[in-house]
Parts: sequence; structure tokens; C-alpha cells
Amino acid sequence: RTMRDLVFLASVVLTVYARVSFPYSEVLQASDLAGTEKVNFKCKNACRVYVDKPSDHHIITRHGNVITDFNTIVSGNVFAPAGFNLPPDDYVLENVGDMGLDFVLYIVDRTAPHFGSSVYVPQQNLGVAIKDRARFVTILSSFEAMWFSGFTGTFPEGFPRIYATGFDAAGDDMCNPVFQARSQHHAEKSWPTIPTAVLTVDFGFIGAHNVTVNRRKAKQPMKNGAVTTVYTSPGYVGCLFNSGQNYNSPVSNVEDSFAVISESLDINIVYDSLNANEALHFRVNDNNYNWAGGTYTSFSKYFGAGSFDVDLAWTRNTISSSWALQLDFGVEQPAAQTTTARSLSATPQITTQSVSLGTEYTKSTKRGDWSTTSTSRRSYTLFSAIVLVCIFA
Ligand SMILES: *[C@@H]1O[C@H](CO)[C@@H](O)[C@H](O)[C@H]1NC(C)=O
Repeated sequence: RTMRDLVFLASVVLTVYARVSFPYSEVLQASDLAGTEKVNFKCKNACRVYVDKPSDHHIITRHGNVITDFNTIVSGNVFAPAGFNLPPDDYVLENVGDMGLDFVLYIVDRTAPHFGSSVYVPQQNLGVAIKDRARFVTILSSFEAMWFSGFTGTFPEGFPRIYATGFDAAGDDMCNPVFQARSQHHAEKSWPTIPTAVLTVDFGFIGAHNVTVNRRKAKQPMKNGAVTTVYTSPGYVGCLFNSGQNYNSPVSNVEDSFAVISESLDINIVYDSLNANEALHFRVNDNNYNWAGGTYTSFSKYFGAGSFDVDLAWTRNTISSSWALQLDFGVEQPAAQTTTARSLSATPQITTQSVSLGTEYTKSTKRGDWSTTSTSRRSYTLFSAIVLVCIFA
């Protein structure tokens, strides 16, 4: 490639994505380095940085001095990056030689709400089974989408919720959750697939609860037998204070169609800045919707029992548009499940694995050194992974 091609490509990438900033945090991705391989950021009151990929070619400098790199930030456990503390100052993130690396760097101020919540990173062939007592857990990922399964716990009404933000903005009134369980049953019988780089689960309470998170293709939303299905524009953020900002995503369109017999169907959508040429097409039987425009505009619709033929199609045409759609199928009593038999095209049998993380593991004060609270367990063993075989076909 000629230099001119590279400059052109870089400028295209630059105009397509912009960094995503929250009141207490920022998220930087490879696209934010495009062109110069450098990007400045500020730590106001000191901050902690987390990243989803190790690399010694991605460094953070301060006044020209190397402070840390992605290897150090990940520090030993790729599934649960230790993070790295930076004193208040101006910093530069620099790529010094790994052009192909996609990453998500989460920079969060120490005064942020829920500071110190755990951060997890599912890997290519191994997800994380989170067994935590904390109310919030954050997941970083450069994969197309994250897939949540196995929610267990005694959830308060309206929980768990999943926000497309770090822990600092999760639960903020200004941010719209991507997934919100209507009931205990909805929580246990939903497996949301969400195509976005940063996600935080708000379990709604401090206490024993589990969830498993695996990498997944964006175009494989889990529907068979699920009572809640969510769809979002790839890279969705969902907060009023940074409206128009989206995470970088390798995916630019969303499409699905299925048929289902259910006791009810609830549609809940929030959409923002959808250009006329990128309206979200959504159809339930003879009801056609083409949502466009919007300023975090919401729309809800309830359908009583019936058979539902559903279509959904969207392609991104502008950098700032976003939407999130939740479909809840009516099965308030578990017994009603049999009536939600889906005549969907069969979801392929999925075999995923997860390494358990959470309360069994405690961070020792020595960075990168993990010890367990349970003496019968090795501190960190890939091969003690729980193998989840999920058959939804
Ligand atoms: C979490 O999973 C473990 C098994 O790994 C189980 O023993 C525990 O009961 C689960 N917690 C809840 C709240 O269901």
C-alpha cells in the first residue's frame, strides 16, 4: 500500500469512530489511534486502567516516559486484568509496533461510582463463569458480541440489568440498560447476546449470584426457549450524556426473523439519531415499524397471546446512530414455558467453556499474583474450567 492509501484509510477510520467518554471514564479502542498511533488522555484525580489484551507494543507514556504497557495492565490473568493505577496527569497511549491489535482500554477515575468493581475478559475459546457477590461486574471485549447465560441468584424486581458502559455509569439514570429482566423467571431463561465492547451487569443486590459470559458472533441471538431477546445497534452505549458516541464494532448491520407462539409479546425500544436512510425496520405480523430520528426516544407496545411472525433489519449509515430493542415473551409462570415453543430455525448446538472467576479468587497485594480463598482449589487453572454444554436446538 502506498502512504497515500494508508493516510486515506486512516482518515476514513477517524471519521467513522470517535472515542467514547463518560463523566468518570473513557474507553479507547484501536480506532482511536488511527493515523498517528497515539492518543492523549487525562487522569483527573488519578485513575485505573484495564485492557482486554496483553501487548508490549501498546504503551502508556507521561511526558515522554513509559509508565506501563498492556502486558503489565493485564498482569498475569487474561480473564481478570489486574488494572494499573495512574496518578493524576496527562498521558499518551501509543502503539509502538502491533498494527493488527484490536483492544478495549477502560480508563476510570478513582472517584467514579462503584470504583474497584471487578473487570473480566472472556477469551476466544474460554469464557468466564462469574461467581461474585458484588453488585456490579464489568466485561471488556473486542469480540463481535458477548453472550450471557446462567443467571442465578435471587434478584430484586427488574434485575439483573446489563448496561453497555463501565461500572462507573451502570445504574446511572442517564443510561439505558440494554437488558432488563422483568422477573426472576425472565432472568433465568434469557441469554442476551450484545454486540458492544464494554458491558456491566447490575445484579441489583450484593450477595451470591452467578452469570457466565462467552464470546459469540453478533448474529446469533439466542431465542429458542428464551423469554427475553435483545437486539442493539453494534457498539451501542445508551447514555444521554454522551449521545451520539458509539464503541467501535466490526459489525454494521443487524438482521433477524423468527416466528413464535407466546402468551404475550412486549416490545420496548429506545432509539437515538437514526438517519432517514438507516431506519430500523421491525415487523410483527401485519404491524410494520420504521423507526427513524429520535433523541433517546422510546416506544413500547404490548401484544396479547398469539402467534408472532417477527422481522428485524438495520444497517448503519451514520456514526452517531444507536438503538436498543428488548422483546419479552409472556411466560410469567414457568409452567407457561411449554406454550412458548418456538418455531425458529434451529439454533446450532453450542459448546462453550468457562473458567470460573469471582469470589474463589482474591487478589493478593502483589500484582499479578493470585491466591485462592479455598485451599482445595488451584489458584488459577484453565483446566479446572467448567464445561458448559448448552443444547437449545
Ligand atoms: C453459583 O454456582 C455455584 C456452582 O458453581 C453454585 O454452587 C451456587 O449455588 C451458585 N449460586 C447461586 C446464587 O445460585
